[in-house]
Amino acid sequence: MGSVKALIESTTLTSIPPNYAYNTTSNTCNQQNAIDPVELEGQIPTIDYSMLVSGSGQQRSQCVQQVGEACRDWGFFYVINHGVPGEVMERMLGACGDFFDLREEEKREMEGEEVLDPIRCGTSFNAAVEQVFFWRDFLKVFVHPIFHSPDKPPGFSDISLNYSKKVRAVMLELLGAISESLGVDKCYIEKEMELEHGLQILAANLYPPCPQPELAMGMPPHSDHGLLTLLIENQGHGLQIHHNGMWIHVNNAPPSSFLVNIADHLEILSNGKYKSVVHRAVVNNKAARISVAMAHGPALDKVVEPAPELVKNGGYKAKYIGMKYKDYLASQQGSQLNGKSCLERLRIECEPSTK
Ligand code: OGA
Ligand code: NI
Repeated sequence: MGSVKALIESTTLTSIPPNYAYNTTSNTCNQQNAIDPVELEGQIPTIDYSMLVSGSGQQRSQCVQQVGEACRDWGFFYVINHGVPGEVMERMLGACGDFFDLREEEKREMEGEEVLDPIRCGTSFNAAVEQVFFWRDFLKVFVHPIFHSPDKPPGFSDISLNYSKKVRAVMLELLGAISESLGVDKCYIEKEMELEHGLQILAANLYPPCPQPELAMGMPPHSDHGLLTLLIENQGHGLQIHHNGMWIHVNNAPPSSFLVNIADHLEILSNGKYKSVVHRAVVNNKAARISVAMAHGPALDKVVEPAPELVKNGGYKAKYIGMKYKDYLASQQGSQLNGKSCLERLRIECEPSTK
């Protein structure tokens, strides 16, 4: 199936083809879609990363507490002063733009065959199983534990290697703070999830300008599969997060910040204390939007279940059954993307507690 980019460049479109009309197809609209977005500017918490790595003891513990509150109340937060130079982020976005500018034949060589292929590009989310397509082209590359890269465009490999390493270091430090905020050792998540061999996926998204943005959808409501995602974008006005029953526009990012979100495996590991948050990407009719979401998960062969320490702490029962991360990933990537449906399958129905 051809890319959205090729579609809009091949002809002058004044309306979208019917098979992109997401918002008029009732069976693909879930309830969350019916709720109008509400703009709450400046509400998403901001974490000052420098306090974690070079603050005083008191500043650091204050920051850990803020991280904990952001995870508990939002599941999304900005990270500023993280030490990754703005130009490294810009170059990564630029290289992804160059990738999408490759000729269609060149990209087709990198389509991949299986959802777990380490280099895979395409359009929509999983066009093989979708009836309605998303206004999005993508590139997904496994960059850790083994680094992969498309061999085009020139420079992509160096730029993504440098970016991936730097983002990974930030992610590890954040998971340290998250561990502490859960009342366990700083290294707890890193060790338990075997992050030395942890999966890191660079997911680049292109949302070309769309003639009928209110009818199309860039990426449907979903939660991310891993532990923690760090996202950057070339412009705001696209991502929306589901919070307290409303869709909230994310368009007020501090300059050069990362937008970080909790993903499904952190919800499982923390036994639901920190929840993955549903988000979606809408499209616009003015300019192409590019985002780079760096997903960080456990080692592929790790079976993840609620951490005994975190279940016991509150005298609770485990709320999720264990599953191998690789199987979870294959199932999520190989299906239609639909809210938190993958995670729901692991949820244990609890009897009302008598305690
Ligand atoms: C993702 C994602 C949102 C965006 O890649 O998982 O949610 O704004 N992307 O591109
Ligand atoms: Ni996502």
